[in-house]
Amino acid sequence: MIGFLFVIACLFSDAQGCVGVDLIPQPVSIELSSGYFQIDSKTVITVDSASREVGALLGRLLADDGDIELALSGDRADRDRGNTIALRVETQPAEGGDAGYRLRVTPAGIEIHAAGREGLFYGCQTLRQLLLQPGANDPLSSRIWRVPCVAIKDFPRFGWRGLMLDCSRTFQSIDYIKKTIDRMAFYKMNVLHLHLTDDQGWRIEIAGYPELTRKGARFPERWNEPASHQGYYSRTAAADLVHYAAARNITLVPEIELPGHCLAALACYPELSCTGGPFEIFPFFEGPGINKDIYCAGREETFEFLEAVLCEIFELFPSQYIHIGGDEAPKARWIACRRCQERIETEELEDEHELQSYFIKRIEKFVNSKGRLIIGWDEILDGGLAPHAAVMSWRGVRGGIAAARAGHSVVMSPTSHCYFDYTYGRIDTQRAYLFEPIPEELDEDEAKQILGLQANFWSHIDREPAKVDAQLFPRLLSIAERGWSPREVRDWEGFRRRVTVHRAHLDRMGVRARPMPVGAWTPREMSETYEPLTWDVSATICKRGRYRILLEYTHGAHRLGVEKVALLANGEIVAVDAHRGVTGARHDKNHYHVVLDRHTEGGRYEIRAWVRAEGGVDSAGQVFVFEEVLEEVLEED
Ligand code: ACM
Ligand code: ZN
Repeated sequence: MIGFLFVIACLFSDAQGCVGVDLIPQPVSIELSSGYFQIDSKTVITVDSASREVGALLGRLLADDGDIELALSGDRADRDRGNTIALRVETQPAEGGDAGYRLRVTPAGIEIHAAGREGLFYGCQTLRQLLLQPGANDPLSSRIWRVPCVAIKDFPRFGWRGLMLDCSRTFQSIDYIKKTIDRMAFYKMNVLHLHLTDDQGWRIEIAGYPELTRKGARFPERWNEPASHQGYYSRTAAADLVHYAAARNITLVPEIELPGHCLAALACYPELSCTGGPFEIFPFFEGPGINKDIYCAGREETFEFLEAVLCEIFELFPSQYIHIGGDEAPKARWIACRRCQERIETEELEDEHELQSYFIKRIEKFVNSKGRLIIGWDEILDGGLAPHAAVMSWRGVRGGIAAARAGHSVVMSPTSHCYFDYTYGRIDTQRAYLFEPIPEELDEDEAKQILGLQANFWSHIDREPAKVDAQLFPRLLSIAERGWSPREVRDWEGFRRRVTVHRAHLDRMGVRARPMPVGAWTPREMSETYEPLTWDVSATICKRGRYRILLEYTHGAHRLGVEKVALLANGEIVAVDAHRGVTGARHDKNHYHVVLDRHTEGGRYEIRAWVRAEGGVDSAGQVFVFEEVLEEVLEED
């Protein structure tokens, strides 16, 4: 089955694609030469003591990827014999530090060299991508795999290539987190930030405060929330996740949100609030997105609680950074609270913003005293930044610029490019791809403060794993490449083609990714009467079946009205769905269904839509084709 997929994909790749170097992220340097190394059942993965662990993992991954069972050997005789995938740790540091690697494929064998396990692991991911390229696998024999001859030198541009999953609004199962780790690792991402606490749920077991997960991880019965959306990570499960991630070069960064977004904690321990409660948790859509009740900054009990929680977090998560949230903390309760006002007075603070700064600085001091660092959303700049804090810039890049200029480390994750709970209409894969994490405003020294970038996924809208996948992929590949590849690698058309090839990888990993757009409309093509627009979909509609066509507005002052959509085969209409649809700030019936009964190899297939711009011609958007199977997953979003 895999072989079949690759042959198909190969037909749509250019010549370079067919020799199998469609890597994501694009490596720093790659030299291609003629020929292949053939992996067969006698190929041995050879290791030394420093590379044994990665070698064993590579063996397991290749078995999962392609049913390739290879022996692992530490024998010098095996290393000398040839027909080997040789993993070796070098004594001299590799270019690009610990994450750098060199990979050489010749007809005699494969060598991956690096300064340590991190670089070796990345070399192995590149090898997996090469091995599973279109054309690499001999379709006649699933026992022989061909890897094109290349010499690759590679290392990452940034040390933070992240994704945040909101595990609070919707509990993300351990199985889903592990799958996400696998997919991130394949694309050389290295930070998974888990948003573990918020108004909708406390998701991490804290031995000293058992109510947090006994009560704070479940909605009251009357909300009828599905069981799969609730739950928590036991200490054992968290330790297992940390271990699983670390083996794949991924650091889990836990987020314990404070001083706001903490209703789940207050519902369990109302004495930590300004009013004393009582409180009850509720599903996101049933209440305010930002809750007024936050931790009381005037009570010492609040800090005792948070310090005890953080001590357990330190035990479970070895990450250098601990995320402490800091965003969206309304000050209404603090303004009305006698204790909070007393704190402002005794600490000689100006106002509630300085009280928030006091709160964060106090937590930072504690976190630093245990040898860790804090990172927080960019609101932690308000009222004065804690001395060693890193900033996650989400309200645009301004906060990141200010923090970098003040000598603080920064992770860029602006809503404009990196929020993948937003629709593809707002942030498409191209927009995410073209994001540059180092703003022009920063000079060379300030730019060094940018640790990297991160995609964020808030789980209040799309909640089921398949829907989350479709929100993340393929956009996450843009973040992976932007985080790893040199700044100059910015060829959208080339990336788009590589993403198309990578659909086979995503399929294999069980990801039903959102398709790339097959076409677009712009104001130039618009009229105010219905006129046909046609897009070639020969590379997308390549078998008989049912397809859903989505026209999705992206920008401009005017919406698009749609009269009907047709599928054409070699210039002849073969299917039509005629109904009025609209796509603009709001969408209505902008999905069209067509059936292709007979597909001819090499035929020309097109989608034609009769459309008009309404109220003016300033309308722009994109056209997507979904195979019927995606219907179950994406529904009419
Ligand atoms: C955020 O999106 N509130 C950080
Ligand atoms: Zn208070």
